[in-house]
Amino acid sequence: MKLGTPLSDTAVRVMLLGSGELGKEVAIELQRLGAEVIAVDRYPNAPAMQVAHRSHVIPMTDPQVLNGVIMAEAPHIIVPEIEAIATEVLAHIEAAGLATVIPTARATQLTMNREGIRRLAAEELGLPTSPYAFATSAAELAEAAHRIGLPVFVKPVMSSSGKGQSMIEALEDAGAAWAYAQSGGRVETATVIVEGRIDFDFEITLLTVRSKAADGSIATSFCAPIGHRQVKGDYVESWQPQAMSAAALASAQDIGAKVTDALGGLGVFGVELFVKGDQVWFSEVSPRPHDTGLVTLATQTMSEFALHARAILGLPVDVSQRDIGASAVIYGGMDAVGIAFEGVAEALSVPTADLRLFGKPESFERRRMGVALARGADTDQARERAREAASRVKPVAN
Ligand SMILES: Nc1ncnc2c1ncn2[C@@H]1O[C@H](COP(=O)(O)OP(=O)(O)OP(=O)(O)O)[C@@H](O)[C@H]1O
Ligand SMILES: [Mg+2]
Repeated sequence: MKLGTPLSDTAVRVMLLGSGELGKEVAIELQRLGAEVIAVDRYPNAPAMQVAHRSHVIPMTDPQVLNGVIMAEAPHIIVPEIEAIATEVLAHIEAAGLATVIPTARATQLTMNREGIRRLAAEELGLPTSPYAFATSAAELAEAAHRIGLPVFVKPVMSSSGKGQSMIEALEDAGAAWAYAQSGGRVETATVIVEGRIDFDFEITLLTVRSKAADGSIATSFCAPIGHRQVKGDYVESWQPQAMSAAALASAQDIGAKVTDALGGLGVFGVELFVKGDQVWFSEVSPRPHDTGLVTLATQTMSEFALHARAILGLPVDVSQRDIGASAVIYGGMDAVGIAFEGVAEALSVPTADLRLFGKPESFERRRMGVALARGADTDQARERAREAASRVKPVAN
């Protein structure tokens, strides 16, 4: 891989589709290697746009508009940051050899639909998952819930971040779960997945990196497991490492290797797994850095964002962990434009604490506006510090 000079004929142009806080960190890492970064999102001044060479505001689900921007910019590498993209355009671009899609166009298509990735993982790869069925009506949903056994999770197949998702404990709640799923799906394909609940001890994200080895082959490496806590489909805190048995870690890495091998390409994947004792279940996978992996900004020699940048440029990676650490999310707590943050100095006086304030132009009550990071002698201490630092940051309206 030859790197070049941005804004010149030798530039390596990288287009981010989705310009949130994860894309912002990827953009910074790409900038450090002299890539030319083009940030795209559906609203102006998105976090990654603020650190990119150029940006475009477009509806990324509109195939014609998306294709137009890609043609006009002619990026060498396209890096999807979110799922809600007209991925059929990426498939055409890749097939025509016009750009490299990270990790592959097929991976972005399979993972944006819970049916695609679940069938691949469970039916083709034979990985352990929760029992599941797909339903296209309230009646089918109730029938599936009855067959699988309550409680079950109901999720629109085209949704993320917990949108339209509910857990039902009684069959009479099937109608409400169906209606709620219809309101939260990304598109009007009315299919939901019905999943039996896994009674796990804890859940992890296993960041798995596919990178080019010295001999040109693809190497798969694993970061230390990240533990996290989810509230309403959104992560509120994460820590690294999550302690687990050697057998469970081996199973987790085996699942991570199989699913990322099947998806192919280069880059970081966030493999979401449920763990109980030595047993591990595959839940889902993001073919990109994962929000719970923000903790790696405090813990690893190379954060997941640095790993992604290196891997997609065909460069070697180092997944070693340097410190024990944790992250805690800072929410907007209000609906307002151009908010300010008080208590930043107080937050940063918590030992080892660090902050990322994403610079999102508009705050919502439950919008992630920043994250606090901390290290510790163990994950309990790191979590305590990260939570304390996050709690000291006070979003205020202007
Ligand atoms: N079958 C299940 N058994 C037990 N818990 C589950 C199950 N499915 C989902 N959950 C819980 O709900 C959380 C969100 O589920 P999932 O990851 O499928 O949704 P999501 O909308 O993709 O969320 P995100 O985009 O934040 O990853 C999981 O991290 C887990 O805590
Ligand atoms: Mg998830």
